[in-house]
Amino acid sequence: MSQFQIEGGTQLSGELSVQGAKNSVLPILAATLLNRDETVLLGCPHLRDVDASVEILQSLGCGAQWEGNSLAVNTAGLNKSTISDRLMREMRSSAIFLGAILARCGEAELSYPGGCELGPRPIDLHLAGLRTLGAEIREEGGILHCKARHLKGCTVVLSMPSVGATENLMLAACGAEGTTSIVNAAREPEILDLQNYLAACGVPIKGAGSSAITVVGGKRLHKCTYSIMPDRIAAATYLCAVASAGGEARLLRAQEEHLATVTAVLRESGCSIVSDDEGLVCRRTEKLRAVHPVRTAPYPGFPTDAQAILMAALLKSDGATVFEENIFSDRYRHVDELTRMGGNIRVAGRVAVVMGADRLRGAKVRATDLRGGAALCVAALAAEGLTQVEEIHHIERGYEDLVRDFTLLGAQIFRTGE
Ligand code: UD1
Repeated sequence: MSQFQIEGGTQLSGELSVQGAKNSVLPILAATLLNRDETVLLGCPHLRDVDASVEILQSLGCGAQWEGNSLAVNTAGLNKSTISDRLMREMRSSAIFLGAILARCGEAELSYPGGCELGPRPIDLHLAGLRTLGAEIREEGGILHCKARHLKGCTVVLSMPSVGATENLMLAACGAEGTTSIVNAAREPEILDLQNYLAACGVPIKGAGSSAITVVGGKRLHKCTYSIMPDRIAAATYLCAVASAGGEARLLRAQEEHLATVTAVLRESGCSIVSDDEGLVCRRTEKLRAVHPVRTAPYPGFPTDAQAILMAALLKSDGATVFEENIFSDRYRHVDELTRMGGNIRVAGRVAVVMGADRLRGAKVRATDLRGGAALCVAALAAEGLTQVEEIHHIERGYEDLVRDFTLLGAQIFRTGE
């Protein structure tokens, strides 16, 4: 088992280039199934979740080839419409393949994604939407048997703006006859990136970024080379790292328009953040202040994926900050671990209150999930002494190389073990 060893207490100084976005590349890899030609993805991050998606594509008969950070996918050889239970469990967001396989093959069989580290992960909205488009879906013993000989474009209204359901429906709609309108669609920037990829392949699609997306189905997609957008949550992690440790960092490719709620909170806490053509420069020279309540919400609200890392950054702030987690039911599992480091946090249901502590101390802690794990690293930068973070496989699902990136910013961090 590998660990991160982090010696806290060093102010950060340096620059890095933000990796491609995990939550953008995963649906785009599913979307490549709609394209019988080659797709080359530039700026594709090497992540465990990307490896899991590539394994799914290969298990379906598709080819994939890395060259540096470019990933070439060729789905001409697709010869299966079934995803094994093992691969489905490897990555919880694998449900995203359903819409694409249905659109391409007219049938799909995959296991139901169970709960995950953040609580239950239902896909009822995905299934209801696909049924509205004409899919027949039967669940038997945890396996979803789906048939869709003729998907037909129509209006699908989501009862809430689920990111995954929106993406699944966009992909299925590409294979439907006529026009599909998705109402109350999620508005995350990664959905716009998916739209941009599909449009670059020739799909008439518009509206992503707003809550109404329109897709004209039935077009043949053509080959395409596409650059993945920068990862706004990785960027938020480095901003929070500077807030935690102090110092200054330049984050190349970080886009403030995707991070407005995060930068607003960090500025309120006393950080200086300046945006220019190349990215963002973040500086923290004084003690951080507590901020107004932070409530997670669908985009453009404060991202649930940045809740844990911001909480870690505020552990030594002056005063108390209230967090309200409104997206996932079990997203405070990092709190016990932060408490081991001296964090003073109380949780009641969906609310957590962070009371600024004078000191944090290094400890042996365990990553409980991807962003919770990153939060421990952010806190460790401001702790006295050595922090050992275990179960880092969670972190490697979403960060290409946290050790490389934190080292570029001057942090004392090492990876040990197998
Ligand atoms: C995506 C992101 C994840 C992020 C989340 C919210 C990817 C690969 N993952 O996850 O990093 O934290 O958006 O921004 O892009 N829900 C239902 N029924 C459904 C679908 C969702 O009840 O059919 C609920 C979920 O349990 C959750 C909420 O809706 O409570 C939001 O989920 P959703 O927006 O779908 O998130 P994901 O697409 O799973």
